[in-house]
Amino acid sequence: MDKLKLRASIRQRRASIPEDERYAASVQIREALLDQPWVQMAGLVACYWSTGAEPATHGLVFALWKHGATVMLPVLRDDLDLDWAVYDGPDTLAPGRFGIMEPVDVRRGVDAVRTAALVIVPALAADRSTGVRLGQGGGSYDRALARVGPNVPTVALLHDGELLDGVPAEPHDRPVRYAALPGGIVRLGEGRPAE
Ligand SMILES: Nc1ncnc2c1ncn2[C@@H]1O[C@H](COP(=O)(O)OP(=O)(O)OP(=O)(O)O)[C@@H](O)[C@H]1O
Ligand SMILES: [Mg+2]
Repeated sequence: MDKLKLRASIRQRRASIPEDERYAASVQIREALLDQPWVQMAGLVACYWSTGAEPATHGLVFALWKHGATVMLPVLRDDLDLDWAVYDGPDTLAPGRFGIMEPVDVRRGVDAVRTAALVIVPALAADRSTGVRLGQGGGSYDRALARVGPNVPTVALLHDGELLDGVPAEPHDRPVRYAALPGGIVRLGEGRPAE
């Protein structure tokens, strides 16, 4: 299946998830992440503010911030690359491009993501054996992930059924190390669960 078809089918599937189920899944994903030592230890986290039927990150962002982490959220640029700004509580967001909420704080530049100790990204699907992720089609996160060092944990948040065997990949696609699903955290690229 090509990227366009796979995106369409996952978007359609997501749209059919009842709101209460999606909320429950998001809570499970959040708890699974907050249980991980490498999440608890991260002082600077790059995350995203979810929209639509994505696994919701609002509670996760709030919890990380409450626990004392500095959380950066993306600010979408005209060229679809990602700038970053710091979240400092629920009152520090305002609608940006496509109505997505963005921090009102000063922009730290596209390279700010290089300084994160943990990078949490959206995805429509991820490949269990390679870690390649399928995004919404802007290439924004491929650009951001290309700036992240090899030892920084990277996580894609997925609904059940979105961790696949075989995701179409192009040379610019950047893999992630983990997938976070309602059932727990899966280490990708090695076929074994996260430690
Ligand atoms: N490093 C890059 N520099 C410039 N453009 C890029 C880069 N990576 C990807 N792109 C552009 O983004 C387009 C979309 O890429 P792709 O289909 O992989 O998006 P995606 O992975 O679904 O989106 P996202 O990364 O935002 O989740 C590509 O056709 C390419 O033109
Ligand atoms: Mg891609």
